[in-house]
Amino acid sequence: MENIHPIFDQILGKKDKEKLLDQKGIVIWMVGLSGSGKSTLAKSFEKYLHENGKLTQILDGDNLRTGLNADLGFTEEDREENIRRVAEVARLFANCGVITICSFISPTESIRAMSRRIIGDDIYHEVFVECPIGVCETRDVKGLYAKARKGEIKNFTGIDAPFENPAAPSLTINTELKNLEDCLQEMIDFFIPRI
Ligand code: ADX
Repeated sequence: MENIHPIFDQILGKKDKEKLLDQKGIVIWMVGLSGSGKSTLAKSFEKYLHENGKLTQILDGDNLRTGLNADLGFTEEDREENIRRVAEVARLFANCGVITICSFISPTESIRAMSRRIIGDDIYHEVFVECPIGVCETRDVKGLYAKARKGEIKNFTGIDAPFENPAAPSLTINTELKNLEDCLQEMIDFFIPRI
């Protein structure tokens, strides 16, 4: 690190970019089990923002794990590295004024504390996409719960790997009890005043 000289103070800042875009660069961090509806909700909120003239970027576990994080699996260490890299990328987007929506299981309080620390408490907003594991398993959109039950996938979150509910999320949205339209409305009501 001793020969590295960051030049952050010599380049345009977050405020300049936010002024240009007429929005605030925040990070919306969606937390929840596989199949809880994180990505569906992220996509529909992104569509809403786009239609309302806001610049957004979605970062999603399934997508990033085919590229930037293709070398990582699902051990505790790999998940931590996955989230560390994503948080660094999210911070870059947010510093550019972009509304950055991250959709990752991010299963533990310590992993989420790390992403909050990297991104910055002032711009990090945690959304718990709440759905009982039984319901996620019944949905089983990707067929992964069935494989995990048969032992074909190891370390599957909620089956043989832990998931801790967030202790103090900014917002909790229950996708078992509400339909997509109502969940989306909750996102809009909460975030529009913060954008
Ligand atoms: S995280 O735990 O590191 O935050 P991430 O959100 O990137 O996970 O990736 C989760 C996605 O990977 C799931 O939606 C699912 O499609 C897939 N997946 C494959 N194997 C596993 C596993 N063992 N545990 C959880 N998700 C898995």
